Amino acid sequence: MSRPSILVARYVLPELIDRLSQHFDVDANQEDRVFTQPELIARLQGKAGAFITANEKIDAALLDACPGLRAVCTMAVGYNNIDVAACTARGILVSNTPDVLTESTADFGFALMMAAARRVTESERFLRDGRWTHWTYSLMNGVDVYGKTLGIFGMGRIGQAIARRGAFGFGMKVIYHNRSPLPAAIETPLGARWVDKDTLLREADHLVLVVPYSPVVHHAIGVDELALMKPTATLTNIARGGVVDDAALVEALRHGRIGAAALDVYEGEPKLNPGLLEVPNVVLTPHIASATGATRKAMADLAADNLIAALTGGTPPTPVRL
Ligand code: GLV
Repeated sequence: MSRPSILVARYVLPELIDRLSQHFDVDANQEDRVFTQPELIARLQGKAGAFITANEKIDAALLDACPGLRAVCTMAVGYNNIDVAACTARGILVSNTPDVLTESTADFGFALMMAAARRVTESERFLRDGRWTHWTYSLMNGVDVYGKTLGIFGMGRIGQAIARRGAFGFGMKVIYHNRSPLPAAIETPLGARWVDKDTLLREADHLVLVVPYSPVVHHAIGVDELALMKPTATLTNIARGGVVDDAALVEALRHGRIGAAALDVYEGEPKLNPGLLEVPNVVLTPHIASATGATRKAMADLAADNLIAALTGGTPPTPVRL
């Protein structure tokens, strides 16, 4: 029986290519080119499996052009780049990589929130620019994190991990908004309270967005929502670009309608709204919340486990279900 062929769409550690090669004929993009959509379609011809990242778009047009595909395995927890309904309708397995990135991603979300609150990157720019000449009473005064109200929009695994850091490490009061409240077994140890979205916006001193992207949450934070927030509040987005209306955020930061923001994700990334580069009170990072060596390896290994199981008659450990 001939071995299935797969595409590994982006660079991964060579040992993972070796492992996949024990099961498949592997076409590996180790030069890490970012494929255009026609290039991706061309490289997927004759492939049964696609090992992808959050950057490759798997839509119905691509699936129609790649009729041999049987599994699409992304090394990411978010899968808004994949048309899961179209895959499912064609009997194509989709998997993601939950759990293995939860703690690293929560660490980073918390770090961003703290950096915004305490003006860490703004201070560093000030110092590097040679502008630090003397101590002053209000030099880079920020806002406190300890004991403040942490608001979480999207209280899934990563949201809960951020809540643990806030509640247990920083004495924060935790409020959150989700489609529905979580069971008391999760809320009670965290002292977390479900609130409606407007209350979340009004009461949070530090608001962290961790909600999975879908059209329902497109621009969930826009002009009206920013207007409800405290003028001293921070806003951190580690969810996806598009959850925040970046243009509205630039205006809110520019006019001091909120205190500061921290973003790891952007509408239309890797391009970003140029206004974000002009306002000082925003921390900007290039979509790296899960980026530790150990976590990236765990994500890639889990994506490979799913692909191997899907194409060799096994049970994929973390399938995405509709
Ligand atoms: C990264 O953004 C992920 O979804 O894992």
